[in-house]
Amino acid sequence: MKRSIIITGGAGFIGSHVVRLFVNKYPEYDIINVDKLTYAGNLANLKDIEDKPNYSFVKADICDFDTIYALMQERKVDGIIHLAAESHVDRSIKDPFTFAKTNVMGTLSMLQAAKLYWESLPEKWEGKRFYHISTDEVYGALELTDPDGIESPFTTKASSAQHHQAYGSEFFLETTKYNPHSPYSAAKASSDHFVRAFHDTYGMPTIVTNCSNNYGPYQFPEKLIPLFINNIRHRKPLPVYGTGDNVRDWLFVEDHARAIDTIFHNGKVAETYNIGGFNEWKNIDIIKVLISTVDRLLGRPEGADLDLITYVTDRAGHDKRYAIDSRKLQRELGWEPSLQFEEGIEKTVKWYLDNQEWMDNVTSGDYLKYYEEMYNNR
Ligand code: NAD
Ligand code: TYD
Repeated sequence: MKRSIIITGGAGFIGSHVVRLFVNKYPEYDIINVDKLTYAGNLANLKDIEDKPNYSFVKADICDFDTIYALMQERKVDGIIHLAAESHVDRSIKDPFTFAKTNVMGTLSMLQAAKLYWESLPEKWEGKRFYHISTDEVYGALELTDPDGIESPFTTKASSAQHHQAYGSEFFLETTKYNPHSPYSAAKASSDHFVRAFHDTYGMPTIVTNCSNNYGPYQFPEKLIPLFINNIRHRKPLPVYGTGDNVRDWLFVEDHARAIDTIFHNGKVAETYNIGGFNEWKNIDIIKVLISTVDRLLGRPEGADLDLITYVTDRAGHDKRYAIDSRKLQRELGWEPSLQFEEGIEKTVKWYLDNQEWMDNVTSGDYLKYYEEMYNNR
């Protein structure tokens, strides 16, 4: 079946993996990547698919209602996968306004444009889908009750052979009450509420998913894993916030993209699905894995870079533990993470070490100037 799908934020980390998957898997679809190209958006993330006939890029701000509405009409859009957002907690602490503007008003602008366009068609909502990508951070923080870790109650193909540890007995469920703490998660929570309100009020066919921390290639090096890989490579200090015992639940980005594909096509309208890998790690433990992996791959002596670990002042309002229960998605749609964490980390570290040019470009900001010139000259 032919479809015309806008993927917002497709030049970012997760968005670029979703665009790649859809463009390669569905040659009959028209995939439109809508991205403003902020500091986090980088078209170099999509070099391998940019010439495919079913792919196009539109540089636009999701807050620009008129442009988004006109694009939906012009391209007869029937599906939206909405990832565009400001995504870094530390930036949200310094600049909450930008987060409210993009994450809340930008999402509202996407919703309203889709509503007006789809309602104007004879078939209205039929065959339409507005899929909003969100985060587990909207649920707030879980207590870290077992600092040494306990046997996880969950088993999946991937997790059974990996870390398989939990740091408390509570997990985020789809029914867990929202309790965001950072300006980032507060803005994402607000956008989730707007999406559900458009279903409940107007009948828009919406879906929301809340995913745990992602890792993998093309992540902007302000986030823990790419930042630390790059710092270890260059023997720069590794700033560990607080005591380093905060827990995150990590999922390989391509597994998230596969989940998005499954849910976009088979998920039930108005439902929420949690996505996660049952893969909890304390920051300090993951940092030690990164050090030993980088050192081994670069042929340095085992543990040579452990002295880069530098404890710094904690992040304000730092959430203690995130842990997703994604059994609903497993049970109802058959999705499971495919990759063991050890395998995913090895792939990720290798990718960053092999793609130093990509890293140098994004850290120098040169790529921003390049694309600015390119689009201003059109
Ligand atoms: P990212 O920061 O890497 O990418 C965001 C993209 O959105 C960039 O390409 C940026 O240019 C674009 N963008 C920002 N503001 C825009 C605007 N006003 N108009 C158009 N485009 C704009 O983010 P990411 O890590 O890929 O996250 C993508 C989505 O997934 C976000 O909604 C985030 O909340 C959610 N999420 C992320 C994680 C994670 O671990 N990274 C986990 C769960 C959910
Ligand atoms: P991050 O990658 O920013 O993701 P999030 O805050 O959305 O979970 O951070 C992951 C964890 O690593 C989080 O507990 C904060 C911590 N952290 C550090 O200790 N030092 C750092 O320099 C960064 C960026 C993060």
